[in-house]
Amino acid sequence: MTYKLNDFLIDGIKAKILAKKYSTPLYCYSLKKIKENIKNFQKSFKSIDPLVCFAVKANPNKIILRQMGKLGLGADVVSIGELMRALKAGIKPNKIVFSGVGKTSHELIYAIKKNILLINAESKSEILEIERIAKKEKKKVKVGVRLNPNTDAKTLIQISTGKKENKFGIPEKDLLHVVKYIKNSKYLDLKCLSVHIGSQILDHTPYEKMLKVVRRIINKTKFKFEYIDLGGGMGIDYENKNRRLNLNKYSKSIKKILIKNKSKIIFEPGRSIIGNSGFLISKIIYIKEGHKKDFIILDAAMNDLMRPALYNANHRIIPANKNKKKTKRTYEFVGPICESTDKFSTLKGFQKLKEKDLILICDVGAYGMSLSSNYNLRPKSTELLINKSKIQVINKRQRLKDLI
Ligand code: LLP
Repeated sequence: MTYKLNDFLIDGIKAKILAKKYSTPLYCYSLKKIKENIKNFQKSFKSIDPLVCFAVKANPNKIILRQMGKLGLGADVVSIGELMRALKAGIKPNKIVFSGVGKTSHELIYAIKKNILLINAESKSEILEIERIAKKEKKKVKVGVRLNPNTDAKTLIQISTGKKENKFGIPEKDLLHVVKYIKNSKYLDLKCLSVHIGSQILDHTPYEKMLKVVRRIINKTKFKFEYIDLGGGMGIDYENKNRRLNLNKYSKSIKKILIKNKSKIIFEPGRSIIGNSGFLISKIIYIKEGHKKDFIILDAAMNDLMRPALYNANHRIIPANKNKKKTKRTYEFVGPICESTDKFSTLKGFQKLKEKDLILICDVGAYGMSLSSNYNLRPKSTELLINKSKIQVINKRQRLKDLI
């Protein structure tokens, strides 16, 4: 993914060729990058040999999930839809974990019937509901309990999940009671202690603090958990400033826990596996001179990529064709949607742009398409997977006639 003679290439194919053939806005993923990310992830955690369950919410595309399965990954799902999709993509039930604070009876019955690896429960009420269904089904159901470790993940407040004021998991003081209850149940098989403190974590310290609580819980319960599911959350380098979580350091800290407990580690990474593999190619519809800045009005909008509007997230924007002319104007990259939150970035010193030029919004592989919507009745974009210079359409653009 580099420039060659000023044209940006995704795995050897010019972005402008893709845009011409498939129109814009257009999501493109590089399979090579996904494979590279998985390899790096596995290499960093080699000494603990974890089960890696891809967080389907990051990117639930069927073909992508099929690839994840082929590459040996399991799945972390949070709804019956994601569970069905993961199974359909060929991921084996014994590699699927089910998280979430509000699993309905309908979802639990389905998961129990499918014999998935783990249902990670997040409250006493959910445990009682699983037990009720298990009894009816005459089954002993494998469950995990999700701990709320009251740890600040030092990430965006909207995507922090591990503090006591967050809805997720069971607080330490109640967890021991829940563990005791499950141990005494005929229909529940306690297998796992799970935890997930948030997403886009770049700093190692929160993980260190979280592990301290995990260790304390293991000591207090004196229970031999077959699995410890540490969730996901590993941050990526959106700013291109070489800031990412040090996975090797994290691995070493986890290893310390495993000296005394021989549990199998599960991870549920989403963003770190697929985030930097995706680009959103977009065409400039108009350039409008504004007060002290020019509005670069793109054909991609917040319905295609919600992260900037929702979290003020920053995604790099690069030109599909480089030139050497820098503008003195400030550019504000916006979409056509009728609200002022429909804005991607405000940049100074960008190269001079003109109408119909193409740009790419970077690192949109995770929580890009999965958070997209039909707001303003805009059809969802085409998705392409590039595999060794071969282009595969993995999702067709929604047709207006279906929407209307
Ligand atoms: N496991 C659980 C239980 C989760 O809740 C999540 C993400 C993950 C794993 C995967 O986390 P990752 O490795 O991708 O950070 N829409 C937001 C992110 C929300 C994350 C929700 N949970 C964003 O665009 O930044």
